[in-house]
Amino acid sequence: MAYFPLFLLFLLLGLSLSPVISTNSEGNALHALRRRLSDPTNVLQSWDPTLVNPCTWFHVTCDSDNHVIRLDLGNSNISGTLGPEIGDLQYLQYLELYRNGLSGKIPTELGNLKNLVSMDLYENKFEGKIPKSFAKLESLRFLRMNNNKLTGSIPRELTSLSKLKIFDVSNNDLCGTIPVDGPFATFSMESYINNRLSGPELQGLVPYDFGC
Ligand SMILES: *[C@@H]1O[C@H](CO)[C@@H](O)[C@H](O)[C@H]1NC(C)=O
Repeated sequence: MAYFPLFLLFLLLGLSLSPVISTNSEGNALHALRRRLSDPTNVLQSWDPTLVNPCTWFHVTCDSDNHVIRLDLGNSNISGTLGPEIGDLQYLQYLELYRNGLSGKIPTELGNLKNLVSMDLYENKFEGKIPKSFAKLESLRFLRMNNNKLTGSIPRELTSLSKLKIFDVSNNDLCGTIPVDGPFATFSMESYINNRLSGPELQGLVPYDFGC
């Protein structure tokens, strides 16, 4: 019986310390991202995981509360894959990864980045499907995934992205029909060229994965 209060004390200590341990979750997410990448020209050299937060790292921008709002790694000679950790950058507004050698699947967890305004993944080697989870990105205005190796159809769920202004999936291996609802009413055919897509669907008469 005498041990019980001591056990309780340790439990309470543990609970009070845990928020301190997790404060740098965004730095941890970026460091996990780095571990998956090959970086032959040392673009990520300043990414020192021992610092209290990642706000002084090159290519990372924080807001006044030290939350990461931009990741600018376009044209950076990086290759490798993205992992689920990228979904922990919950304050991110700009994800710029264009013109690199990134490959593998686009993580579903990117759909957790509710504040994202711009996602530029174009001119890489991404494969697999466009995640349906992107439909959760309610702030998204720019979504460019052109010049990759994406397959499958354009998820109908994306028609709910009411703020979407620019959408480019040209030069991939997509199939099925092109959506016409929501923001898709405004995109030109340039957004879709060089795929295996068939023309705009006839208001629900044609199954959208027809030909996939
Ligand atoms: C990418 O690699 C090329 C060729 O090695 C080099 O000239 C260029 O500076 C590199 N870019 C960056 C951002 O390091």
